Amino acid sequence: MCEQCKNKFYITTPIYYPSSRLHIGHAYCTVATDVMARYKRMQGCEVMFLTGTDEHGQKIETKARESGVTPQQFVDNIVEGERGVKDLWKLMNISYDRFIRTTDDYHVASIQKIFKAMYDKGDIYKGYYEGLYCTPCESFWTESQLVDGKCPDCGREVKPAREEAYFFRLSKYADRVQALLETGTFLEPASRVNEMINNFIKPGLEDLCVSRTSFTWGVPVDFDPGHVVYVWVDALFNYMTALGFMNEKYHDLDKFWPADVHFVGKEIVRFHSIIWPAFLMSLELPLPKKVYGHGWLNFNGEKMSKSRGNVVDPYLLAERYGVDALRFFMLRTFPFGSDGNFTNESLINCINVDLANDLGNLLSRTVAMVQKYFGGRLPLEQEEDEAKDDELVTMACDLVHMYTEQMEKFAFQNALGEVFKVIARANKYIDENEPWKLAKDESRKPRLARVMYNLLETLRICGGLLTPFMPETAAEISKRIGSDDDSWESMGFFGTLPRDAAVQAGPALFPRIDLAKELEYLDGLLAAQSPAPEAGPSEQNEAEAGKDASAAAQPQNDKTEAPLPEPLPEIAFDDFTKVEMTVVKVLACENVKKSKKLLKFQLDDGTGTPRQILSGIAKFYKPEDLVGKTLVAVTNLAPRKMMGQLSCGMLLSAERGEQLHLLMLDDAIPAGSRLC
Ligand code: ME8
Repeated sequence: MCEQCKNKFYITTPIYYPSSRLHIGHAYCTVATDVMARYKRMQGCEVMFLTGTDEHGQKIETKARESGVTPQQFVDNIVEGERGVKDLWKLMNISYDRFIRTTDDYHVASIQKIFKAMYDKGDIYKGYYEGLYCTPCESFWTESQLVDGKCPDCGREVKPAREEAYFFRLSKYADRVQALLETGTFLEPASRVNEMINNFIKPGLEDLCVSRTSFTWGVPVDFDPGHVVYVWVDALFNYMTALGFMNEKYHDLDKFWPADVHFVGKEIVRFHSIIWPAFLMSLELPLPKKVYGHGWLNFNGEKMSKSRGNVVDPYLLAERYGVDALRFFMLRTFPFGSDGNFTNESLINCINVDLANDLGNLLSRTVAMVQKYFGGRLPLEQEEDEAKDDELVTMACDLVHMYTEQMEKFAFQNALGEVFKVIARANKYIDENEPWKLAKDESRKPRLARVMYNLLETLRICGGLLTPFMPETAAEISKRIGSDDDSWESMGFFGTLPRDAAVQAGPALFPRIDLAKELEYLDGLLAAQSPAPEAGPSEQNEAEAGKDASAAAQPQNDKTEAPLPEPLPEIAFDDFTKVEMTVVKVLACENVKKSKKLLKFQLDDGTGTPRQILSGIAKFYKPEDLVGKTLVAVTNLAPRKMMGQLSCGMLLSAERGEQLHLLMLDDAIPAGSRLC
């Protein structure tokens, strides 16, 4: 029995906001959750994998009105309709166990009871919400959310206003939540803990406004008509109502609560690691064991969202490259805890290198040789292993342990890395053993049979461990190598495949793609498909979270091919190590007076004392777009003066021709980290 999860595993995705169609970024988290759920099922755990949709709120109400339908019709279409959320999960082969919609009757009734319970406890009280109000949009904004002092949605004037509202005593739970975060096990990756404590808890947690009166599309507060429950109270409790909390629809609470892990995107970590535990503390309920904040998939360096016209359509990609390739690509290419940059090129390269070349070739070569030399079935007469087989056999035997270690940390990229190390070793093993030479000598047939068996067995283990990532491909590998045992137990043993396994040939698992032609095709397709600007679901979150997550106004990747710079002379390793490169965060940035080129930065370099650096990049960036960004600086350069001001270091950027891009890192990396 698994000590950690006691053979029960409850995992959740965020519930998606169906204000528009989902894009590939949304599928990222759901695929990762599916991989984890399948992996745990393989291990014999009883899994509950919950996903769903978060369907209330002003934005949906407004969009429905604009479309001339009721909010319920609007969300029904996006959730249940053709190419809607449920269709997408079917396409992506998502094996969820339960799908919750926050408009489900049982959930609505549960939320009303939950709200009342917190009110009765004295943790919800009535007060006034004060803020800057945009009348046409019926929205409150904080000072920092305004754009040029105007409503960020419509650009019109806002005015101070106040509205009666209920508040949750979040401040009361600040110390307990901080202690929870400091355990180091509740929120991962670790860098997100500092972010939560420094940015939200230390500045002081304010009570949270948990009802609205300016719109009606929400769960009504049943004891005070006119108020609807704040969408995040409604949304967060889905994780429990879907198990039967405060309702009779389900009875799985005892079995599955507390959740083993909530997977969430980084911008909603605050809701899950501060507000959610505080709600649960208020109701004296057990807390989830873990919240994992994953990074974003960016597209060509920009956040993927409809408003930037760079949506990557999962239907298009899955239909063209296959669902398994797409699932695999997302988790093989990007570390789950950090942001990743999705480019068409990285997708095609991943398919060509890992899937077509390494995995596909290993399978097709092995099967073809078993057919050619043994008519498709290995003879029982096989030599025992030679010393030179040891490395491959040991690696294949140990693989399940290495893989499990990484999977338990949600390090999907590393887990796949382990599998592909063994695949690479097996390809090398073919070249070392030269089966085509063994085949020429009848007396070496038993040795040849052993070489082939070792390859099939390696494929069985690698294919088996790829099952959570690529279920269909893994099943196909099993079929082709004649294996009918894909049990978890068999993954740790070398020699489970029957000696006289019969193989089956088939078309290439992943045909190689012509990179240049394919990129041209995809560029054309994207250009033709660029949607009209429209705020995507994530913008809703940013507005709700009061965060400004706008991307820097970076020059577009315009594909002009500037010549490569001249190579520099070789340097000694020791010389390289003399350069101190430090991760810094931009505290402030402004133009230097009378200079068209220079920007002046105040940077957090982890020492506690801001560092000033001047950089000649004013024509590429607006100062306000850089505040909060995570950059790299050379911090041991001798200080020098520019335009009378001291510059203590240099910011690293990448230049090609007329283009310049500051080197920007994942915001999860703490200031002061050293590049090495
Ligand atoms: O946040 N890369 O819903 P949502 C990776 N309803 N993840 C991305 C992404 C990208 N490019 N774009 C979006 C909500 N996501 C709430 C959740 S849970 C109680 C309520 C992720 O549809 C995003 O980070 O706006 C978030 O975790 C999820 O998609 C749902 O976003």
